[in-house]
Amino acid sequence: MSEAQHIQWFPGHMTKTKRKIAEQLKLIDAVAEVVDARIPLSSRNPILKELIGTKPLIVLLNKCDMADPKKTAEWVEYFKTMGALAIPVDCKSGKGLNTFKDSVKTVLAEKLESYKQKGLVGKPLRVMVVGIPNVGKSSFINRISGVTKAKVENRPGVTRGNQWFTIDRQLELLDTPGVLWPKFDDATVGENLAFTGAVSDRITDTEMLAMRLLEVLAQKYPDLLTARYGELDLERDGYDLLTEIGFKRGMRMRGGNTDTERAAAMVLEEFRNLKIGRITLEEVNG
Ligand code: G4P
Repeated sequence: MSEAQHIQWFPGHMTKTKRKIAEQLKLIDAVAEVVDARIPLSSRNPILKELIGTKPLIVLLNKCDMADPKKTAEWVEYFKTMGALAIPVDCKSGKGLNTFKDSVKTVLAEKLESYKQKGLVGKPLRVMVVGIPNVGKSSFINRISGVTKAKVENRPGVTRGNQWFTIDRQLELLDTPGVLWPKFDDATVGENLAFTGAVSDRITDTEMLAMRLLEVLAQKYPDLLTARYGELDLERDGYDLLTEIGFKRGMRMRGGNTDTERAAAMVLEEFRNLKIGRITLEEVNG
């Protein structure tokens, strides 16, 4: 993947983001990483661990309203084994966000205790919020800080100052200084980001994408697929599935062939708008 929502990723921008994060690390106590609960690994920055070192980590499994709740629970456990505290959230409705402040206190319990010992009452905890574009980082910050501000463009090269948000007397958030990138040299990651719409359809072949999505759904969520589109021969490949679905929906072109382009756009739209169901594309074990 070379572009995500029209973002050009250049080594220079990455170096700059790395440097800026390194500079700000001394100012913060913990990191909150926003990921897409439907693709918790594909939506991570590949070198986050290296970037944040030993800072305690909270993983916000965002868009959990769209993800499979059973799988989300498994991801919470997975991150726990990785030493991070994960919480499912829905930043569109605000669901789950009420646990955020307590989560910060939990991961910083030792620090809070040492503040107390030193009589440093009232010293706010500072958390850096990170996430690749489109995971819902702005939605999270807006929701938790109660500020509706115009979204700063996610474009490397666009200079923006450090953005601090005071949540209350005990908590301050710092927006990522820079833009984080996904693991774009991995084909499956690119595909997952494209399925969820994190990568613009303008740069992906819609029909190919919908065919691949149907193959993945036929394997992972056959019941949801047939509940939405009726009986399908799930053994068949993506092209056949797309044609079958388009045919059932009456999407014909002049001459009688199925309009697979229209069918592809419909399948992607229905997946992204929850019409097929709550789906997690990445599993803990494989
Ligand atoms: P970013 O800063 O990480 O780039 O992401 P941003 O907050 O802009 O969110 C990207 C898209 O994801 C937005 O949709 C936003 O509404 C949606 N979103 C964020 N959090 C959630 C969530 O928990 N659940 C669901 N269902 N959607 C979420 P958009 O279509 O780009 O804009 P709009 O629909 O808000 O107009």
